[in-house]
Amino acid sequence: MDTQRSQVETSANTLVDIYAHNVFPSMHVRWGTHQNNIGHTDSAGCFRCHDGNHTSKSGVTITNDCSICHNLIVSNEAHPKLLTDLGMH
Ligand code: HEC
Ligand code: HEC
Repeated sequence: MDTQRSQVETSANTLVDIYAHNVFPSMHVRWGTHQNNIGHTDSAGCFRCHDGNHTSKSGVTITNDCSICHNLIVSNEAHPKLLTDLGMH
């Protein structure tokens, strides 16, 4: 009758462990409490400051030049050799 008891208990403990690593009720923080600032699709992320419009009194502007953060190795090519070399084409 109790043949699957240990698996059920292991599953329950694993779920509790996952929950405890993502949800912090005492801090009022749960999944989704804070927006994801990685990338440019879910939020402004790095563009909150790196929007080319934040300039100091001395005239230094926080850059929004893509190449500061990204290394564009292929752009606007229909059949880039790189993808062939990587076996992706
Ligand atoms: C709260 C504002 C803020 C946010 C958000 C921010 N940065 Fe910055 N970042 C700065 C400032 C200020 C500098 C220094 C600019 C300067 O001195 O020209 C800087 C400089 C940099 C530099 C060096 C630029 C250079 O010219 O050498 C890199 C790379 C960089 N940030 C990456 C990022 C990345 C990646 C993110 C998002 C994950 C990010 N930053 C988010 C404020 C910010
Ligand atoms: C201040 C740093 C920074 C600048 C400037 C920046 N990016 Fe990003 N970008 C990031 C970061 C960080 C990610 C997320 C990388 C990851 O998820 O591993 C990202 C992700 C992306 C992605 C993948 C889709 C996404 O939103 O996750 C694209 C496409 C992209 N950037 C295009 C651009 C273009 C085009 C520009 C110039 C107009 C630009 N980025 C300027 C930091 C920057």
